[in-house]
Amino acid sequence: MQTRIIAITNQKGGVAKTTTTVNLGACLAKLERKVLLVDLDPQGNLSTWLGIDINELDKSLFDVFSGSVEISNIITRTCVSSLDVAPSNISLTNIEKLFANIDEREKILQKKLAPITRRYDYILFDCPPSLGLITINALTTAMEVIIPLETKVLSLNGLITLMNTVQLIKNSLNPYLNVTGIVACKYDQRTNLSRMVVDKIKTGFNDKVFNTIIRESTKLAECPISNLPITQYAPHSFGSYDYLALAEEVINGEENINPVIQ
Ligand SMILES: Nc1ncnc2c1ncn2[C@@H]1O[C@H](COP(=O)(O)OP(=O)(O)OP(=O)(O)O)[C@@H](O)[C@H]1O
Ligand SMILES: [Mg+2]
Repeated sequence: MQTRIIAITNQKGGVAKTTTTVNLGACLAKLERKVLLVDLDPQGNLSTWLGIDINELDKSLFDVFSGSVEISNIITRTCVSSLDVAPSNISLTNIEKLFANIDEREKILQKKLAPITRRYDYILFDCPPSLGLITINALTTAMEVIIPLETKVLSLNGLITLMNTVQLIKNSLNPYLNVTGIVACKYDQRTNLSRMVVDKIKTGFNDKVFNTIIRESTKLAECPISNLPITQYAPHSFGSYDYLALAEEVINGEENINPVIQ
C-alpha cells in the first residue's frame, strides 16, 4: 500500500487533535500498521504525551526544517511497537521567521519527510490550532485530512473556513488533498447538545462524517499524564474501543486509495 499521510487538523483549540493523533496512531499500530506521528505543534503536547522531555530535546523538527539534521535523526520509538514519533518543542515557533524568505516555503515539510515516507504505512500530523504556515505545510504534504470536532459547541463557521482552506490548498499546492472525514469527539451521551451537533454536521457534510463517535471519557482525559496511549492506559475502556473503531474505519478506506506517483 502507498503510505497514507494524514493531517489531523482544526484551527480551533482543544478539540482533541492531539488525543486523536496519539490514540488513532496507537490503534493503527495495534492493527499491524507501521505508523509515524509528527508533532507539528510548538506546544509539544504529543511529544510530551509519549514520554519525551521536550525541554531537554537537543534536536527536534525545528532542526530538520532549518536543515541541520535529517528527519531520520530525530525519529524516536515509543512505548508502542510500530509507533514512532518525530518530536517538537517551542523552538518550532521560529519557523515563520526562518521560512520568511525561502522559496516554496509551503513545501518544506514535504521535502524533509520524503526520504522516510516509505518506511511507514501511516504518517499522522498533529497540527497546531491555527491555519498558519505549519498547517499549510501539513496540508501541502498530506493526501488526507481528518478533522476532529468537539461536539460541545457548534462551530460550523470554523468548519467551513477549514473546508475552504483545504479546497484552496487542493487548487493551488496539492491536487491530491481530500478530506477523509470529520470525527465527532468528546461526545456527551447525557445531553442533547452533542447529538444535535452531530445531526447538524451530518446535514451539512454527510458523507464526510465518520460513523465512529468518540465519547467523552475520563480515561481519555487522564491518558496524557500516564504517558501511554489509551490502548495501554485503559485497554478495556470505551475510549479505547472508540479509537479502535475509528482506526478500523480508517483502515477500511485503504481499498479506495489509488497509487499516486510521488
Ligand atoms: N473524548 C474525550 N474525553 C474527555 N476528554 C477529552 C477527550 N478528548 C480530548 N479530551 C481532553 O480535551 C483536552 C483537549 O484535547 P487535545 O489536547 O487533544 O486537543 P487539541 O485539539 O490537540 O488542543 P490544541 O488545539 O491545544 O492542540 C485535553 O485535556 C484532553 O485530555
Ligand atoms: Mg494539540
